[in-house]
Amino acid sequence: MNIIENKSLLKYNTFNVDVNSEYFIECNSKEEIKGAIKLADEKILPPLILGGGSNILFTKDFEGVVIKNSIKGIEVIEETDEHVLIKCGAGEIWDNLVEFCVEKNFGGIENLSLIPGTVGAAPIQNIGAYGAELKDVFYSLTGVFLSNLQEKVFYEKDCKFGYRCSIFKDELKNKFVITEVVLKLTKNPLINTDYSSLAKAAFDIPSEELTIKKVSELVKQIRRSKLPDTKEIGNAGSFFKNPIVDKNHAEKIKLEFTDSIQYETEDGQFKIPAGWLIEKCGLKGMRVGDSGTYDKQALVLVNHGKASGQEIYKLAEFIRKQVSFNFNINLEAEVNII
Ligand code: FAD
Ligand code: EPU
Repeated sequence: MNIIENKSLLKYNTFNVDVNSEYFIECNSKEEIKGAIKLADEKILPPLILGGGSNILFTKDFEGVVIKNSIKGIEVIEETDEHVLIKCGAGEIWDNLVEFCVEKNFGGIENLSLIPGTVGAAPIQNIGAYGAELKDVFYSLTGVFLSNLQEKVFYEKDCKFGYRCSIFKDELKNKFVITEVVLKLTKNPLINTDYSSLAKAAFDIPSEELTIKKVSELVKQIRRSKLPDTKEIGNAGSFFKNPIVDKNHAEKIKLEFTDSIQYETEDGQFKIPAGWLIEKCGLKGMRVGDSGTYDKQALVLVNHGKASGQEIYKLAEFIRKQVSFNFNINLEAEVNII
């Protein structure tokens, strides 16, 4: 186990924020993860599990032990005529797993192409995009409790998956390390191009050409056209969750803004794109020093260069206040603020 003191986290977070961690341990196995947890315990320091750092905003140096999960491995563990179960180490890059499955024509995660980060973090907020969510293909995961190093397997019913949430982002936040994930994919893929921008991109493509590989390519094209490349412009994707309001509130907004975009949820409420709200506040493409909002997607907060985590956080608070003032809606951060 390689223990590094006072390590820069610049390369370990996609906001490209320059902070240090008191201790940093990269772990390639469950045993190393357990060793790192023990070390944090001995030093009476808080541990922080880190994947790709693509959903984290560090606002200051981390006075604790960063445990970087790098457990690798992708393995088909069960296969029938209809489905496959794929076991994957939590430190695998999510998009490598997607590519592996698309190449083999295992369907179910092609709409989740090009989401940054690791497989182990995917269940934390039940990653979702272009009409699909992790929970649709989730089978089980295994991990270790930080408090006593006990291992536990969670099945779908145990995980409390919802829109950008799960038990691991809520009551088990910072209490459980995911070490491997099992997904159940289909060998008879169903094409899902219902999401509006994907439907538009797929419109002219004959149905026999619409394979999961094609869907994956279209999703990648759309994502590249509206999301900044983290290597060039630091960001963590959507900074806030899309808020959900009741019918009265949604109607009020519709009356004032005829171009308002609203999606009805299963329980008769309305989801409003936070990017649209921020744009309507006149904040799309704004910049304060090196922090700002992306000019093609207002929901993405960006670091144009040397913005600190504090500066990005202050900008997020300013945006929250403006949206609350103009729409009486409280935006909730999707990104984990440390
Ligand atoms: P990290 O940022 O390292 O960690 C996120 C949280 O999970 C932290 O609280 C961390 O402590 C915890 N954690 C990480 N690994 C583990 C583990 N093994 N066990 C326990 N806890 C753990 N998300 C979407 O849902 N949909 C999108 O379309 C999407 N698009 C994005 C586009 C861009 C350009 C970027 C930068 C981000 C986007 N995201 C999106 C957000 C992000 O990619 C996902 O949330 C991803 O799952 C985070 O993975 P990570 O490994 O980087 O997690
Ligand atoms: N919109 C605007 N102005 C903007 C941004 C968006 O008017 O500046 C409008 C768009 O025109 C569109 C609607 O808002 O009509 C929705 O926009 P988009 O399709 O880009 O999706 P989103 O709601 O902004 C969500 C997820 C993304 C995910 C995409 C695709 C959340 C918080 N974000 O974004 O996830 O990739 O849908 O499914 O749910 C992430 O979580 O980090 C993330 C990037």
